Amino acid sequence: IAQTENPSKTDLLQGRRFYCREWALDKLQRCLDARSTPGRPPGLLVMGGPGAGKTALCTEVVYPTSETGRAVGLAPRCLACHFCQGEDQRSLVLWRFVLGLVEQLRTSPLLSPAYKEILDTPSVSSTLEPLHCQRDPDDTFRRAVLGPLSELPPPVQTLMMVVDSLDSGYRAEDGGGRAGEPPGKSSTIAELLANHQHLLPSWLLLVCSVRRQNKAVCKMFSGMRKTHSEHKGVVFPF
Ligand SMILES: Nc1ncnc2c1ncn2[C@@H]1O[C@H](COP(=O)(O)OP(=O)(O)OP(=O)(O)O)[C@@H](O)[C@H]1O
Ligand SMILES: [Mg+2]
Repeated sequence: IAQTENPSKTDLLQGRRFYCREWALDKLQRCLDARSTPGRPPGLLVMGGPGAGKTALCTEVVYPTSETGRAVGLAPRCLACHFCQGEDQRSLVLWRFVLGLVEQLRTSPLLSPAYKEILDTPSVSSTLEPLHCQRDPDDTFRRAVLGPLSELPPPVQTLMMVVDSLDSGYRAEDGGGRAGEPPGKSSTIAELLANHQHLLPSWLLLVCSVRRQNKAVCKMFSGMRKTHSEHKGVVFPF
């Protein structure tokens, strides 16, 4: 994954050593393999308190450093990733997230070349104009991501999309972001993903992390099954 043009694809923990949570990588792999089984939820939520190791886990999935991390083979099945970083406001802006995602999909060798052809059709390419996406990021997400993905032939293996730290930039008291947004319009990355989780193709697993204290965001993804572990509070509903 090229890292220069989109800083939100990288994070500060990249290259650090990863310890002890190999069980979590195994669990993720099993979940990814089982994704296309009918009736499976579309995603997996990594929950834990501040400093519990959520970003470290997401980083190890996408940029593995440990032997297990490389052996589970998750990185080559990662279609796209995004690290929300509270200290970098740009990483929290919804339209930037959507356009960054489209760029990752456009350059991904994991998708059929038909994806690029769909993006080039006028009705879709018009939604990639920054102004359009700023006004209606939900529309861009549906027409340039969800719609095309559901039309493509399923890849040989199930793939995943990793979004770290959905709580960053989400303030429950004003409904997420911009107060007064009409219903059905997302104002944060968390809302966008929660509102559309049922539309993800059955070959794509959404992996998100969130602080457990952020009840509003946790609730948005509450349809997912829960598995607890004894390790310092990292919980996987899936
Ligand atoms: N499995 C691990 N192996 C090595 N270091 C780890 C591991 N888990 C966490 N750490 C270290 O602990 C610190 C906190 O972890 P991390 O940033 O992943 O927490 P977090 O759950 O993402 O916290 P926050 O909610 O604030 O985003 C980091 O310095 C990270 O490198
Ligand atoms: Mg984190």
